[in-house]
Amino acid sequence: MSGIEAAIRIEIKEQETEVVSWRRYLHQHPELSFQEKETAFFIERKLQEFGFNVQTGIGGYGLVAELKGDQAGPTIAFRADFDALPIHDEKEVSYRSQKAGVMHACGHDGHTAALLGFAKVLIKYKDQIKGNILFIFQPAEEIPPGGAKAMLEQGILKDVDYVFAAHLGSDLPTGKLSIGSGYKMAAVDKFTITIKGSGGHGARPQDTNDPIVIGSDLVNSLQKVVSRRVDPLKAAVVTIGLFQAGHSFNVIPDQAKLEGTVRSFDANVRKLVEQQIRTIVNGIAEAYQAEIIIDYLNGYPALYNDPELTAQITAIFNQQFRDQVIDFEPMMGAEDFSYFLQEKPGTYFRVGSQKDTATAYPHHHPMFDFDEQALTQIQEAFLEIARAYVFKA
Ligand code: NI
Repeated sequence: MSGIEAAIRIEIKEQETEVVSWRRYLHQHPELSFQEKETAFFIERKLQEFGFNVQTGIGGYGLVAELKGDQAGPTIAFRADFDALPIHDEKEVSYRSQKAGVMHACGHDGHTAALLGFAKVLIKYKDQIKGNILFIFQPAEEIPPGGAKAMLEQGILKDVDYVFAAHLGSDLPTGKLSIGSGYKMAAVDKFTITIKGSGGHGARPQDTNDPIVIGSDLVNSLQKVVSRRVDPLKAAVVTIGLFQAGHSFNVIPDQAKLEGTVRSFDANVRKLVEQQIRTIVNGIAEAYQAEIIIDYLNGYPALYNDPELTAQITAIFNQQFRDQVIDFEPMMGAEDFSYFLQEKPGTYFRVGSQKDTATAYPHHHPMFDFDEQALTQIQEAFLEIARAYVFKA
């Protein structure tokens, strides 16, 4: 370990309490996706205090702060997200959400506090940096179209060589770093199907075009897209999460509504599933002589970690963190950092945050919490990346 690196590690340790206090403040004051005005203002003020010129209002409430090193070199970017979820915080802790029905239940408060902490330390070592570091704070990760795309459309990665992000993981013990190449998080699509049949008396089905029966047929047929159409060696999910119809036991309604989600990794599989769903919908509409309208929305693309770069970072992590480094198992969840990775090579890795039962709840659970020690781990991992690419020898 170089002298500078050791010094930075000590500073990261020394400011642990401060970083935790930011996290707790954000946790108490969560804001929903696309509404993170106060959170963005909090981040802006902190960055200014540290001495950064901050660009604000990028693609919504997005912020970017740049650290220009003394000498020219590569530019690397770190991204943290900062939106909360429409979940009621059920934890009994001093830093519980003060907003009814809104909660940081995914750890984005932690990502932001950790990146702020890292920025605060690194700016003091400007003269040791050969290249530039971009600190990107992104709103609205949770709801497509998301905040990433809008920020990228403003050209924030134009001069960036590599991009990085970390996400806390309550399924992994604190200390673990999970990293890997290729597709790691799924592409997510959403569809709404409205069946317009004709209703009537429950005793006279012959006079109707029963949307509940049509909907049931659709639910069953859609299950065959993955089992019969997708290559069994490739992954995909089709889930119907909503089926609404009817209001009385003896009345056949005239309408039914289905909503579902599709997850996949491979872009061709993604296209195939959409096309098959549309074909089935059209076929069933024709068979029953009903009008069926489908509204199909493509959400985030699959997240792809650049193999070459990820191999480099994995080697660096292995050297520094040894047996704490584990393989990143692909997940069917989605993440809009995937847009960053479509634009520039980079890697998205996971940082363990489970210490006990209180920190073991799944993400998006009303009891979700994380071991705040993981915030130090995120910064130490970012430090290793920065050292490899932009520190003077
Ligand atoms: Ni998240």
